[in-house]
Amino acid sequence: MTDVLLATSADLPDGEPGHQVLDRAFAARGLTSRWAVWDDPFVEWSAARLVCVRSTWDYDARRHDFLGWAQGVGPRLLHGAEAFRWNTDKSYLVEIGRHVPTVPTILADTAVELRAAIGRFGASVVKPRVGAGGRGLVVVDDAEGRLPVGAGPWVVQPLVASVQRDGEESVFVIGGQPVSQVTKLAPPHDVRVHPQYGGSTRVVDLTREATLLAVDAVAAASEVLGLEIVYARVDMLRSDSTGRLMVSEVEITEPGLYLDLLPANAQRFVDAVEARL
Ligand SMILES: Nc1ncnc2c1ncn2[C@@H]1O[C@H](COP(=O)(O)OP(=O)(O)O)[C@@H](O)[C@H]1O
Ligand SMILES: [Mg+2]
Repeated sequence: MTDVLLATSADLPDGEPGHQVLDRAFAARGLTSRWAVWDDPFVEWSAARLVCVRSTWDYDARRHDFLGWAQGVGPRLLHGAEAFRWNTDKSYLVEIGRHVPTVPTILADTAVELRAAIGRFGASVVKPRVGAGGRGLVVVDDAEGRLPVGAGPWVVQPLVASVQRDGEESVFVIGGQPVSQVTKLAPPHDVRVHPQYGGSTRVVDLTREATLLAVDAVAAASEVLGLEIVYARVDMLRSDSTGRLMVSEVEITEPGLYLDLLPANAQRFVDAVEARL
């Protein structure tokens, strides 16, 4: 029996970037771990003591299949299908926003609701309700004319202009503790900080403001779900009006660990996972 199966996607069969450091950390602890592609029908998930979702970054176009897979793996899946159902629909931000400062978020199911939300915010960011990797995100200046958006349903947020100057802060909370932080900067021509759009990531020391908000956000998610959250990454943007950080995402499903930049995340991940075996 394998101790831990790490779920990945078909285009990353060996694991997320920097996976070697995680592989070595499991081995050094005397634990067997293996990467397995979530939609590979030949994987025997029941042959592992624990299954952890890691780099299943192609789920967004097939959320129904992904949640069905998660359901099928059953209780040996860390966090589990219900947590993923909640966390893979950005409507969870409305709920999180009742507990911690969060980027204001309006749900829009129809074109009428979409225009109303944009009318309220002015310059807005529209995103598919289920999305990853910045796919389908558009910035719209106002609700006039034809909106250049893809298929709904959507979430609508005010455009947080500070992303262009300050970028996005991410804090990893692993085993209940803040472990590491990165600042992700957007390129001049896009609000998205992902490398595929020209964004860049640098390691920074944990800041008090980001750490406190991230820990509170994970605690809020934990309370909503009635579940201990073993690992998460909290992304935060700085409010243009208050100058304070606000939660932009609480990634519980498949938070990339940035292992090539933050090898210490691997050790903490193994510690937290071992405690659940
Ligand atoms: N309201 C916003 N204002 C400004 N930039 C945003 C806003 N929402 C998202 N972004 C930028 O777009 C990126 C992708 O959006 P995000 O909500 O993180 O979706 P995904 O799940 O696809 O990563 C963020 O990392 C950030 O750089
Ligand atoms: Mg994101």
